[in-house]
Amino acid sequence: MTTKQLFDLRGKTAMVTGGGSGLGRVMALVLAEAGANVVVCSRRVEVCEEVVKEIEALGSQGLALSLDVTNPESVVQCLDKALSHFGKIEILINASGTVFEAPATEMSLEQWQSMLNTNVTGTFLMCQAVGKHMIENEYGKIINISSSIGFKGVDPEAVDSVGYTTSKGAVMTLTKDLAVKWGRHGVFVNSIAPGVFTTGMNNPEIPGTLVNKAGAFIATQVPVRRLGTDNDLAGAVLYFASSASDYCTGQILVLDGGLGAK
Ligand SMILES: NC(=O)c1ccc[n+]([C@@H]2O[C@H](COP(=O)([O-])OP(=O)(O)OC[C@H]3O[C@@H](n4cnc5c(N)ncnc54)[C@H](OP(=O)(O)O)[C@@H]3O)[C@@H](O)[C@H]2O)c1
Repeated sequence: MTTKQLFDLRGKTAMVTGGGSGLGRVMALVLAEAGANVVVCSRRVEVCEEVVKEIEALGSQGLALSLDVTNPESVVQCLDKALSHFGKIEILINASGTVFEAPATEMSLEQWQSMLNTNVTGTFLMCQAVGKHMIENEYGKIINISSSIGFKGVDPEAVDSVGYTTSKGAVMTLTKDLAVKWGRHGVFVNSIAPGVFTTGMNNPEIPGTLVNKAGAFIATQVPVRRLGTDNDLAGAVLYFASSASDYCTGQILVLDGGLGAK
């Protein structure tokens, strides 16, 4: 295979949870540009339909489906619909996620459980359902979106959400454990840990979102002195989704402008 062929996703089908907005949308478009069919799914099917139009404009096929990753029935229904449309899923990106900020002493059980349910249980349910299908086909590439702030403690001035950091740490361990358990079945499980990217969850224009509050702090702390942009994701997604990463599993690739190196 040539190097170019290693990264070619033509004939492959991907599923991207949370693909209707933010980083999920960007990654869905990266896969489509590389030739993959892409199932875009989240609770707001209307935003997923808009992304499908963008996928089709790139010359690939898309399918928008409704999905609540916290609901096992919704997960199974979404996968069944995707399989009856495309027949196979070779790539899964788990980008659905949620965050609430509150001091650890004040965080409500509801906030804590919401983050754990969406970020950890949702990622697990998707890996379980789609992973089973991939194991049957002896091939699969799973990419779980964790976070650079899932590795260690974070100053409350930067991000005050012990539920979020805990959930993202769990996504990394889930990634490594599934990679070890499923490597023998041809199913690769890796994680991208983004630093701070501007999205709906993290928008400088929206008061209360992480970047809005921590923007000045980040601008002085991030070694490359900027936030992440769409292009900063593309190479990592394409690597983990393609045959280029066929000897790489259980890894966490941090895209944080060098912040974690300090
Ligand atoms: N932006 C950053 O700087 C940053 C940094 C590190 C990690 N991340 C991670 O990147 C991922 C994407 O976040 P984002 O920044 O792109 O924010 P975003 O635009 O708010 O994306 C979150 C996505 O999750 C989906 N979602 C939430 N709950 C869901 C559920 N129960 N079932 C299915 N989908 C659900 C949302 O779609 P619906 O509302 O339609 O369901 C939305 O598309 C998240 O996992 C986040 O933790 C982001």
